[in-house]
Amino acid sequence: MNAYGRYIIVALTLLISIHYLVSFTHEPYGRATSISNIVSKIKPGKSEETHTLPDKFPEDVRPVFDDSDASSYQRANASFVILCRNSDLGGTVRSVREMEDRFNRRYRYPYVFLNEEPFSDEFKEAISNLTPAQVEFGVIPHDHWYQPDSIDEEKATAAREKMSADNIIYGGSVSYRNMCRFNSGFFFRHPLMEKYKWYWRIEPDVHFHCDINYDPFTFMQQNNKTYSFTITMYEFEATIPTLWGHVNDFAKENPQFIAKNNAFGFMAEDGGAKYNLCHFWSNFEIADMDFWRSPAYTAFFEYLDAQGGFYYERWGDAPVHSIAAALFLSREQIHFFHDIGYEHNPYTHCPKDLDTWKKGRCSCQRSQSFDYDGYSCMNRWDRFMER
Ligand SMILES: *[C@@H]1O[C@H](CO)[C@@H](O)[C@H](O)[C@H]1NC(C)=O
Ligand SMILES: *[C@@H]1O[C@H](CO)[C@@H](O)[C@H](O)[C@H]1NC(C)=O
Repeated sequence: MNAYGRYIIVALTLLISIHYLVSFTHEPYGRATSISNIVSKIKPGKSEETHTLPDKFPEDVRPVFDDSDASSYQRANASFVILCRNSDLGGTVRSVREMEDRFNRRYRYPYVFLNEEPFSDEFKEAISNLTPAQVEFGVIPHDHWYQPDSIDEEKATAAREKMSADNIIYGGSVSYRNMCRFNSGFFFRHPLMEKYKWYWRIEPDVHFHCDINYDPFTFMQQNNKTYSFTITMYEFEATIPTLWGHVNDFAKENPQFIAKNNAFGFMAEDGGAKYNLCHFWSNFEIADMDFWRSPAYTAFFEYLDAQGGFYYERWGDAPVHSIAAALFLSREQIHFFHDIGYEHNPYTHCPKDLDTWKKGRCSCQRSQSFDYDGYSCMNRWDRFMER
């Protein structure tokens, strides 16, 4: 067909569609009316211009699940915990939606959302719309979040400027440091979290790549597990230059807390003199908060906090949690959830086992799993656990 022929066809198609459009909008009492009726029922606000939200979210818009046994299910004493801001709404909605799809629509574990300032009505409404499970929103107490007065601000500023100049990730950020300290020592003391034993930490914009067809909380409980992970990797040494020295000092002063058959050997080289920087990536955690509330961890956190390294350096909650788990737990109490497909940009853990991957209808690629990355500590963990 030549160019002229194509032109004729395009013109004809346009004419026909314009005809249909015109006749549709001109239809006086037919389809057009019923569609606008439906739209007016769906639309919560009255005016087109003011995008006001309804006072109360209508019950019948909440999702209905056909899993009739969910209400009688014997849940563990557990909750999800999500630290996020109002500005994280989009990413938080995506994380919760995936969690519901892959796991929680059948189990209905409650969620706790924490923020250093109050959550907006828009945030609460958008989240509550995603799940029939209990959802609670909390504000973090001032002293659990902000830099304590004991920190020498001049010294802290100098450290931030230096790290910033050295291009260390989040090196110049105070709020990132607040977050690391909060996750290390305070989330499990929040009034909304105190009533639970187990938690599953979720962050905005993470992905759960496989169906989880069993309850990881009751699994942990029944198998005497305390701490779990999906990804383990090396820490940036520049963020924790003095941490290992303080850990050694604490361990020497407090031998009563050190567990038998612990996992210290996974991280310690040369009999403890050197940290190999391996840690569990704590943006995914399913763990027992009574461990963080125990005398051992309480003493450990207070000792570290008194050194000021959360602010004079940039200690992360990941190495702090991981080192504590390696020191105060026996290695059998630490569990690798190989079957939970999990992604936190830029890394993904995808189940290695083909059968697990198929059963979980996983949306990740096994060949891309971070386990095989040179930056992963998974090989070290496997070798350590075989010993
Ligand atoms: C749940 O666990 C917390 C922390 O261990 C405990 O205080 C609380 O009593 C537990 N609740 C139930 C119902 O067992
Ligand atoms: C868990 O610990 C309890 C009490 O120490 C013990 O009786 C039980 O056999 C353990 N279960 C497993 C699966 O190791």
